[in-house]
Amino acid sequence: MFTIDAALLNDVARRANDYLSAASSRRVSPEPAAIDALQAFDGPLPDSPSAPADVLALLDRVGSPATVRTTGGRYFGFVNGGVVPAALAASWMTSAWDQNAALRVMSPVGAACEEIALEWVRDLLGLPHVAAGVLVTGATMASVTGLAAARHALLERAGWDVERDGLFGAPPLRVVVGGEVHVSLLKALGLLGLGRERVHRVPVDGQGRMRPDALPPLDDRTIVCIQAGNVNTGAFDPAGDICARAHERSAWVHVDGAFGLWAASSPRYRHLTDGAGDADSWATDGHKWPNVGYDCGIAIVRDAEALRGAMAMSSAYFSPGDRRESSQFSPEMSRRARGVELWAALRSLGREGIADIIDRTAGHAQRFAASLRERGYEVLNDVVINQVLVSFGSPAVTRAAIARIQEDGTCWCGGTEWQGRTAMRISVSSWATTDEDVDASVAAMDRAARACR
Ligand SMILES: Cc1ncc(COP(=O)(O)O)c(C=O)c1O
Repeated sequence: MFTIDAALLNDVARRANDYLSAASSRRVSPEPAAIDALQAFDGPLPDSPSAPADVLALLDRVGSPATVRTTGGRYFGFVNGGVVPAALAASWMTSAWDQNAALRVMSPVGAACEEIALEWVRDLLGLPHVAAGVLVTGATMASVTGLAAARHALLERAGWDVERDGLFGAPPLRVVVGGEVHVSLLKALGLLGLGRERVHRVPVDGQGRMRPDALPPLDDRTIVCIQAGNVNTGAFDPAGDICARAHERSAWVHVDGAFGLWAASSPRYRHLTDGAGDADSWATDGHKWPNVGYDCGIAIVRDAEALRGAMAMSSAYFSPGDRRESSQFSPEMSRRARGVELWAALRSLGREGIADIIDRTAGHAQRFAASLRERGYEVLNDVVINQVLVSFGSPAVTRAAIARIQEDGTCWCGGTEWQGRTAMRISVSSWATTDEDVDASVAAMDRAARACR
């Protein structure tokens, strides 16, 4: 019916190039009219086919103006990275290949890239080389994966096969989290039948770090979930101390290091992650700080057999080969060959390029904090990595300023509540941010905050 031809692919390349080259000159959030215009996508399912080029033209004409320009340097919302050139190019190649990376026999290239990229990630993050890993959609699923391995291992020790028999009548497990646990970790616990609220919350300090002296008694049926990089402050739980106490009692330690774990790849910031490598499982993202593009979650588990025990599957038609098979470590069967983008990004950036992203973005966070303080605004956190929390005054003024900043479009930041204070979050996660982006954004923030006083 159709052919995929050079005209179509060249058209995509031209449109994508136009989009990307305009990224820094356009407003970051879309105009309300552009969002309304998305109605053009609606309507009944067409009876007859349309030319792919026409569909692409409609997508670009209506869709591009309704994007949030996270590929430019002035998006500071949530913890969303941009995409480095090699990862974007690899993503196009991966789409052209249309590989299913469930089994090596389905995609040798997918299997090779994932395996090599995971080894590079373990190396960059200072994690044990014997650990097993797998790529998933994001840190949420990476925590599901790591915690499924924890659940498997701890119940196996108690003589219980959780994959076979489920949790009905199983020996109880205890889960310990910090008072500032990320909501996605609680969701992961819920998905695994461990309960979002059935956790023991350990008190934290003013930066959100778990207090090791306040840990409850631990044992070999306890999973302790710590954080490397608090989503608001960027703070790190004292991993070395917590791992030592946990391992003394044979408890399992899981690290939610969605973005912060990447500090380990920078000689300047590595010390913040000290001790994190002593844990048992780790969840992190390629799509946040390393700028691999969406989506790229990474789960790593020290005890490869625990992860395999939780995830392995086979059937007469779907049998794993002798070498590493992603589907034996992954919650998914069919999956995109995400390893290709991760491999390409790391191959292109190298050790120095990754460290440079970490150092530059953390430097920009310092520049934000200093400039905002100079203008009389209160920075609420110790800016240790790429996260800044700022208050523009009362909660009402801060909220109004955030709304005005978002409306203005020069940059985009979201709001939060931090230990009883209303704040704006600035998360500098894109490789594309420059000093000029920071200065233009601070000026826009200052204008907005003054107008709200
Ligand atoms: C500390 C932390 N953990 C987990 C997540 C969830 O990551 P993802 O959206 O990739 O699932 C985030 C997201 O910002 C985070 O900051």
